[in-house]
Amino acid sequence: MKITVKNAKLETVRTDAAVLTIIEGEKLGPVAARVDKALGGMVGKLIKRGEFTAKAGSVCLLYPEGKIAAERLIVVGLGKRADLTVDRLRLAAGKAAAVGRGAGVKNIALAAEGSSFAPEVAGQALAEGSTLGLYQFLRYKSKDESNGKKEIASMTVLTEKSFQVGALAKGVRTGETIAARAAMVRDMVNSPSADMTPTVIAGIAKGLARKLRLKVQVLERDRMRKLGMGALLGVASGSVQPPKFIIVEYRGGGKKPFIALVGKAITFDSGGISLKPPDNMDKMKDDMSGGAAVLGAIANVAALRLPLNVVALVPATENMPSGSAFKPGDVLRTMSGKTIEILNTDAEGRLILADALAYACRYKPAVIVDIATLTGACRVALGQEATGMVGTSEKFKQKMREAGEKTGERVWELPLWDAYQDLIKSDIADMKNTGGRDGGVITAACLLSKFVEKYPWVHLDIACTAWAEKDRPYTPKGASGIGCRLLTQFLRDYEKKH
Ligand code: BES
Ligand code: MN
Ligand code: ZN
Repeated sequence: MKITVKNAKLETVRTDAAVLTIIEGEKLGPVAARVDKALGGMVGKLIKRGEFTAKAGSVCLLYPEGKIAAERLIVVGLGKRADLTVDRLRLAAGKAAAVGRGAGVKNIALAAEGSSFAPEVAGQALAEGSTLGLYQFLRYKSKDESNGKKEIASMTVLTEKSFQVGALAKGVRTGETIAARAAMVRDMVNSPSADMTPTVIAGIAKGLARKLRLKVQVLERDRMRKLGMGALLGVASGSVQPPKFIIVEYRGGGKKPFIALVGKAITFDSGGISLKPPDNMDKMKDDMSGGAAVLGAIANVAALRLPLNVVALVPATENMPSGSAFKPGDVLRTMSGKTIEILNTDAEGRLILADALAYACRYKPAVIVDIATLTGACRVALGQEATGMVGTSEKFKQKMREAGEKTGERVWELPLWDAYQDLIKSDIADMKNTGGRDGGVITAACLLSKFVEKYPWVHLDIACTAWAEKDRPYTPKGASGIGCRLLTQFLRDYEKKH
């Protein structure tokens, strides 16, 4: 979809569908008031009768029949002004675009009245919301099966303030860039594991590097062996797919220290010898969501040319049962030298991350952020509304929280108190890889904490948020692409002082 910005009045724009946003419980803004007047008071009447509430996400489709230039009018609620966040704008744009597509329109024109956000911020949110709201995963649908949903070819963002056109357009371009990467992440995660192997992910990383200012290096099994990555190799031992350790570097920050992003990429998690039950095992193709997110984020950093040095590390492998698979009772020696007793081969994410975090320390990073579909316990704790966060740096946890609010990819912190560390003590090794049923998000993080040395660290558990079980306004059911926008925002604000 092509997005442009235009200085024009909504009621004069010839389009298949004009989109108008309205704040709940306030008198109509100037644009809405003019449109309402042209329509003989129809909008006001709908609100008065309670047929349109203007609550966040509420929407109604009207046919102006020549009273304004647009063929259709889509009215979208932004909710109450006191609750108005940037994400509400994203949500409204997603809703409007989806309704427009449902009506089969080719183009829409949108005036975001009522939002008082800076034009750059608003432009970005509108581009992201509409692009991501229209996202579909059609790679495996033959033509006639693709729901017959026609694509919207273009969207025009309208403003009546000519001096805002430039800033709005800049925001739109940023939003398009970021949304395109988030859609790439969704595509990767939605893809079946047979087509999204470690080798394929390494190929995608190389492709990004070719297009953007990125350096990529892919370590094969023999290099992993030389580095002593016994945990990653242990998890990989049951699979016929060769594991890959993917390193992507972006240098835009001169002599500044690196920021390390680490993403779990288990391309299929069967549980290994501790095999998972069959129900929902198909969803375990999403266990590479963290790896995909860090690749999307570093691509954004390069596309936006941020003045930072960033490295993305992606340990990628399947977790499969076989005659050569690692087993409960085994002890794996990690790259750091620390040993881990395996009680459950299904707690494999923390194992591959242990080696990746140790590798991250070689960069002497300013901060390490890891992101992983790590524990089912995260879903029990937080449901689908928040990503679990654990970490050692108050400053960076706060920054992550703020990035979460801005992007709508919200995070919620759980404690990393010393007392929890006792739960992963092993009788024969330095630690064991499970801590029992209690505090599953935290005990997994406890294990990770032993591999980040003294470096400031934030851990994100996206097991609960990587996959949307139901349609949301700009996140259709399926892979959410979570983490890509969150990390991008975190990095964009990295040097901002508050
Ligand atoms: N990839 C899973 C976590 C997961 C579960 C993600 C459900 C998405 C949905 C992870 O590797 C795993 O299997 N974790 C185990 C750990 C347990 C054995 C300590 C879990 O959460 O059950
Ligand atoms: Mn597992
Ligand atoms: Zn897993």
